[in-house]
Amino acid sequence: MKEYPNVTVLKHPVLTHKIAILRDKNTPTSEFRTIVKEIAMMEGYEALKDVMTKDVEIETPIEKTVQQMIEGKKLCFVPILRAGLGMVDGFNALIPTAKVGHIGLYRDETTHEPHEYYCKLPEGLEDMDIYLLDPMLATGGSGIDAVKMLKKHGAKKLHFVCIIAAPEGVEAFIKECPDVPVIIGSLDRQLNENAYICPGLGDAGDRIFGTYKY
Ligand code: PRP
Ligand code: URA
Repeated sequence: MKEYPNVTVLKHPVLTHKIAILRDKNTPTSEFRTIVKEIAMMEGYEALKDVMTKDVEIETPIEKTVQQMIEGKKLCFVPILRAGLGMVDGFNALIPTAKVGHIGLYRDETTHEPHEYYCKLPEGLEDMDIYLLDPMLATGGSGIDAVKMLKKHGAKKLHFVCIIAAPEGVEAFIKECPDVPVIIGSLDRQLNENAYICPGLGDAGDRIFGTYKY
């Protein structure tokens, strides 16, 4: 895949190790969920590196000092339901005061097109740094639709954070949303005929919530 200035593929042996555990079909739901949270925290640490801070005067046991702190209320984490929910705790562990919005989308099994079924977002999105969370960027359809929904509600400053992406999805997303930086844990090989990421990890929502049939 071509390199894009707005696309960051993270590279760290701990992250790669944890993603390998997610990929393993024998990893049970409880461990899968824990690891998605840990990965989200690691990705969040990187994704939040340019977040706005403000000067705050505090007093140490020694003296008064002005330090930079994050204004959590100006941050909004938005998981795409269902699978994105698995990443919220990891982001909240970093910034517990951030607001959380929710967007519900499901992919049609035949057309692979996303369908909206839920949207609840906080007021004042136009002044917030928004982090859209979804473990999987496959065709890119869900991420693109979620960005459109957020922009319709006033969002201006957005990031998209995923754990695994397919090159096809990244290209589609960058084409439609060139102004939204993408943070990726692993860029995989390709989509298969069912628009699943290869090697991927299967259906992220099913693996987080234990609803898979296999
Ligand atoms: C998965 C995943 C993304 C979407 C990615 O959700 O969590 O939202 O597919 O695919 P795309 O890039 O081709 O749109 P799914 O629709 O399976 O819903 P779920 O999270 O409820 O399982
Ligand atoms: N959604 C998933 O959960 N996994 C994929 O591989 C593709 C879309």
